[in-house]
Amino acid sequence: MARSQETIDLLLTRRSAKALTMVEPGPSEDELQTILRAGARVPDHGKLAPWRFIVFRGEARGQFGAVLRDVYARAQPGATNDQLDFEAGRLTRAPVVVAVISRVTPGIKIPEWEQLLSAGAVCQNMLIAATALGFGAQWLTEWYAFDAKVNEALGLGENEKVAGYLYFGSESVPKDERPRPELSEITSEWAAKG
Ligand SMILES: Cc1cc2nc3c(=O)[nH]c(=O)nc-3n(C[C@H](O)[C@H](O)[C@H](O)COP(=O)(O)O)c2cc1C
Repeated sequence: MARSQETIDLLLTRRSAKALTMVEPGPSEDELQTILRAGARVPDHGKLAPWRFIVFRGEARGQFGAVLRDVYARAQPGATNDQLDFEAGRLTRAPVVVAVISRVTPGIKIPEWEQLLSAGAVCQNMLIAATALGFGAQWLTEWYAFDAKVNEALGLGENEKVAGYLYFGSESVPKDERPRPELSEITSEWAAKG
């Protein structure tokens, strides 16, 4: 593969956009396919494909929002209408949302840890692909990724977990930089003792 300074620049400057400030248009069908294919292209020990994707577009976002509203209302009986409306609108913040589902096969040679890590790599590949296509992207879990009732409505099986809800859309506000760790603080060079 040819050297690609553009890829390096993207990796060294990429920032998440905020779902709350995303606007139409979102990725087209073709662009979404590219994002999903990039997601499915990650390292995957044992060729297990220990992940699957659920796409939310159009009215499905509001319909899933109705589930979030309902679950939230039951869990928080004192919630105000404004809070419930916010829950109902979570997925409509962005034109397209993809839930990346980690599906782990227990008891096999490939450790569960590695299968989970592969799902994280899927999320990051999708963020990078969406950014390269010119879209804003954000990886969120918020509360609903961890809620049993929401996950039931999502149709998750026994060994499935939400790795992330990935929000994709056009950006409406500029992104500023955020502090990054000093490499010297997180990197060391291994050397033999003695
Ligand atoms: C697994 C995972 C879950 C996340 N969930 C949330 C979340 O629920 N809410 C939130 O504000 N940021 C969440 N983030 C952080 C954002 O995705 C993102 O890292 C942050 O906005 C800054 O990102 P950037 O360094 O890519 O610009 C999550 C990140 C990861 C890796």
